Amino acid sequence: MASITASVYTSHVPAIGAALDLGKTHEPYWQKVFSGYDFSKQWLKANTPDVIFLVYNDHANAFSLEIIPTFAIGTAAEFTPADEGWGPRPVPKVIGHPELASHIAQSVIQDDFDLTIVNRMDVDHGLTVPLSLMCGKTEAWPCPVIPFAVNVVQYPVPSGQRCFRLGQAIRRAIESYDEPLKVQVWGTGGMSHQLQGPRAGLINREFDNAFLDRLIADPQGLSKMPHVDYVREAGSEGIELVMWLIARGAMADVAGGKPPKVVHRFYHVPASNTAVGHLILENPR
Ligand code: DHB
Ligand code: FE
Repeated sequence: MASITASVYTSHVPAIGAALDLGKTHEPYWQKVFSGYDFSKQWLKANTPDVIFLVYNDHANAFSLEIIPTFAIGTAAEFTPADEGWGPRPVPKVIGHPELASHIAQSVIQDDFDLTIVNRMDVDHGLTVPLSLMCGKTEAWPCPVIPFAVNVVQYPVPSGQRCFRLGQAIRRAIESYDEPLKVQVWGTGGMSHQLQGPRAGLINREFDNAFLDRLIADPQGLSKMPHVDYVREAGSEGIELVMWLIARGAMADVAGGKPPKVVHRFYHVPASNTAVGHLILENPR
């Protein structure tokens, strides 16, 4: 059967992608951001999974205000980097895993979560920047990736609790797939940031670090935090953090197993308008 070996959490700031694509990673401003991922790149090389299930949000590139799926699973064989206004990023196309993605769709929908099935979609910085941070510049991503898009842009957006429960359904789906695949679940977006209005530029280190502490040690309690707390404490775009609860809900301890091992933790302010947060949690073998 397939199994979940680890979960990875990271911000997706688009300027990080631009810094990498334009060769600015050694500038002092960016060096501090990328240094937090040196360990992660080595770790991913040593622990390359068969598939990455990547939870992210689309920023009105694949979808628009015409159609707003709350949860969308990419079942295609491949996904092209989106043109977000400056041409597509010069990064590899994403190879999907249609068989596992279809199985997860079947299992999770039968488990009472309504997913939108997407057979064609371009993937924006929400998906490509986490891959770039974890892999650096590369000719090909290290394994197939199943994109899983969550609406955190247009209200109503899903609650932390629903995301946490969905993660548990995703774990059940993956563990019932009849092939011994090693799967990582990534939760991306965040941390505190607000891009608009009078509070634009808001960053809240205390909230972010408490969020990381609780995500590790008390994800169930954290999942009960209401939207208004995210928006007040972490800014309007801080709501992207609910996606981290999907990945956390897929870890073994939530289903009665042993707690995950924290193999890496990083936090840095600022990168563009946001705080960069990053965690790697391994399930005990
Ligand atoms: C920024 C951050 C985001 O999460 C995003 O989607 C767009 C921009 C920023 O920091 O500028
Ligand atoms: Fe974003």
